[in-house]
Amino acid sequence: MLEIRNLNKSFGALKVSRDISIEIGPDQCHALIGPNGAGKTTLIHQISGVLQPDSGYVALGGQDITQMSVWQRVQAGLGRTFQITSVLPSFSVLENMAIAAQAKAGSSMQFFRDAATETGLNETARATLDRVGLSDRADMRASDLSHGELRLLELGIALAADPKFLLLDEPMAGLGRTESAALITMLSQLRNSLPMLLVEHDMDAIFQLADTVSVLVDGSVIARGTPDEVRADSAARAAYLGDGMA
Ligand SMILES: Nc1ncnc2c1ncn2[C@@H]1O[C@H](COP(=O)(O)OP(=O)(O)OP(=O)(O)O)[C@@H](O)[C@H]1O
Ligand SMILES: [Mg+2]
Repeated sequence: MLEIRNLNKSFGALKVSRDISIEIGPDQCHALIGPNGAGKTTLIHQISGVLQPDSGYVALGGQDITQMSVWQRVQAGLGRTFQITSVLPSFSVLENMAIAAQAKAGSSMQFFRDAATETGLNETARATLDRVGLSDRADMRASDLSHGELRLLELGIALAADPKFLLLDEPMAGLGRTESAALITMLSQLRNSLPMLLVEHDMDAIFQLADTVSVLVDGSVIARGTPDEVRADSAARAAYLGDGMA
């Protein structure tokens, strides 16, 4: 579903991606781990189109997307959550989902308030809320959601675009144990139908979700395998020591 081939990227003298290649098949969850500053987010940005690689190739479902803009990639089926939240705090949870569904349907974004009253959009919005487990929060203002529920809503907004592939950069960051567990459960349901690339420090999440793990250090993939293989890998352990891999 997603193929990255020989990606290279430098910021001046700093090489942040060194000949990175990753292939992720349908129904696969591939985790990317590595110490702070390893280049994980920079890699995600090159896939989402925020940054252009110096060289290399990115394909989604066989389509070359290397030269596409962020928006073109979303339209091509690349789903992602945004670091700057895409949630509108004063709107209800259902309205937020309806607006996201409306954006996908391509109708005008000028009439936010109308979005939730269009029946078709409403149905799509409710179905997506159900998918992320927020049905019972539909009428609540988004600003009243807990941190974890907000994360679920952000994910729902990404899903409203009906992506073929999902990019997730540290989705558990800042969540408490219970909230993380809820998000992991939800992602483990999603991953049966939606392939994903997951950047995460939380090893519990990786063990529950990932089929394959790539360890990125200093811009290079130094180890790759199943979570168990990577945990047993001496180079990976050395690079990630003290970072929760024990
Ligand atoms: N726009 C930029 N210009 C210059 N250097 C950058 C830029 N963005 C990132 N870097 C540097 O590139 C390196 C990789 O950063 P990146 O954010 O990709 O790391 P990361 O693996 O995501 O780290 P973390 O685990 O802390 O999120 C870091 O040294 C960072 O300071
Ligand atoms: Mg990062």
